[in-house]
Amino acid sequence: MKGLILSGGKGTRLRPLTHTRAKQLIPIAGKPNLFYALEDLVEAGIRDIGVILSPETGDEVREALGDGSRWGVNLTFIVQEAPLGIAHAVKTARDYLGQSPFVLYLGDNLLSGGIRHLVEEYEQTQPQAIVLLTEVEDPRAFGVVVLDAQGRVVRLVEKPKEPPSNLALVGVYLFSPAIHDVIATLEPSWRGEYEITEAIQGLVERGQKVVAHQVRGYWKDTGKPEDLLDANRLVLSQIARRIEGELDHSEVVGEVVVEPGARIVRSTVRGPAFIGAGSLVEDSFIGPYSAIGKGAKVIGSELEYSILMDQAEVRQLAYRLDASILGHGVVVDGQGSTRRHTLQLVLGDRSQVKL
Ligand code: DAU
Repeated sequence: MKGLILSGGKGTRLRPLTHTRAKQLIPIAGKPNLFYALEDLVEAGIRDIGVILSPETGDEVREALGDGSRWGVNLTFIVQEAPLGIAHAVKTARDYLGQSPFVLYLGDNLLSGGIRHLVEEYEQTQPQAIVLLTEVEDPRAFGVVVLDAQGRVVRLVEKPKEPPSNLALVGVYLFSPAIHDVIATLEPSWRGEYEITEAIQGLVERGQKVVAHQVRGYWKDTGKPEDLLDANRLVLSQIARRIEGELDHSEVVGEVVVEPGARIVRSTVRGPAFIGAGSLVEDSFIGPYSAIGKGAKVIGSELEYSILMDQAEVRQLAYRLDASILGHGVVVDGQGSTRRHTLQLVLGDRSQVKL
């Protein structure tokens, strides 16, 4: 079994964060989304993993992953020249995948239950595909699946305007090489993409065995800023307290990770929260579900339910920052103004705000 992680695409729904950064590298509880996908594959015993890259963000993804030795895996990077769809990405990886069955893992998806049980089931029962489903409130943004009374897959449709069910396709799929034959016959959809959902529908039409399971635990597609914040919350809600940095006249309550070299000075941190290596929190309050990146600074300010990426800085802010995402190196400087409100910001890398 091989793995194929998709880390290409455009990330338009996450602008401005993705103007300068691959969306799969946005940190969730201090770790890029992509690493969670990779670690799920590793945990399921998969050692040969292909990574689809876009020409625009490929270099930073390569740099973040290195040669894979950190995880004990063999990584093969494959550039997809244009984001023509998930099925197109699989086609681009055709030579790499050969005759091997594979797990297709979308690099902006986050699952809590792992995938080991699915890989084991695939190996024991050898279907043509295993797909994962979950109930969602608004299925129009997803691939949607219709099951019959026995739970068999009857029909799949991508982003339907009138959804035939509320069961959305999760971005993790197990395939036999039979999928390549169907992909070879696909035409672009109404949105101009080669859809993996249509390829799976093709398997169903050919009478091939397609098995569907509901996800265990939580699943998140981190496609929009509010999804990133929610994913951050979900991961943080499972962390265990680990204090490796320095606490100086500070109160750190509950499940909080303070990485080595981080300093918390005259501040309160209320978990669950993550404080990255080498960061500084001084005369501040960090509330639940916050993640502070490496080398970031929070000085004389309050924030909660927010993500600060590496090297971001918040200074002397009279506003409480809430549900905010600050990109790499962003500076928000309140300059000590005294009006107290809540502020909600989503700022791309290196933005600067003075209030
Ligand atoms: O997240 C689950 C959903 O993912 C499914 O319900 C849908 O059926 C499936 O089509 C997909 O929908 P999205 O619209 O969310 O896919 P998105 O364009 O965001 O791409 C998913 C990932 O794959 C993302 O990390 C970018 C990468 N990608 C995407 C395309 C279109 C590529 O690497 N190459 C591509 O050509």
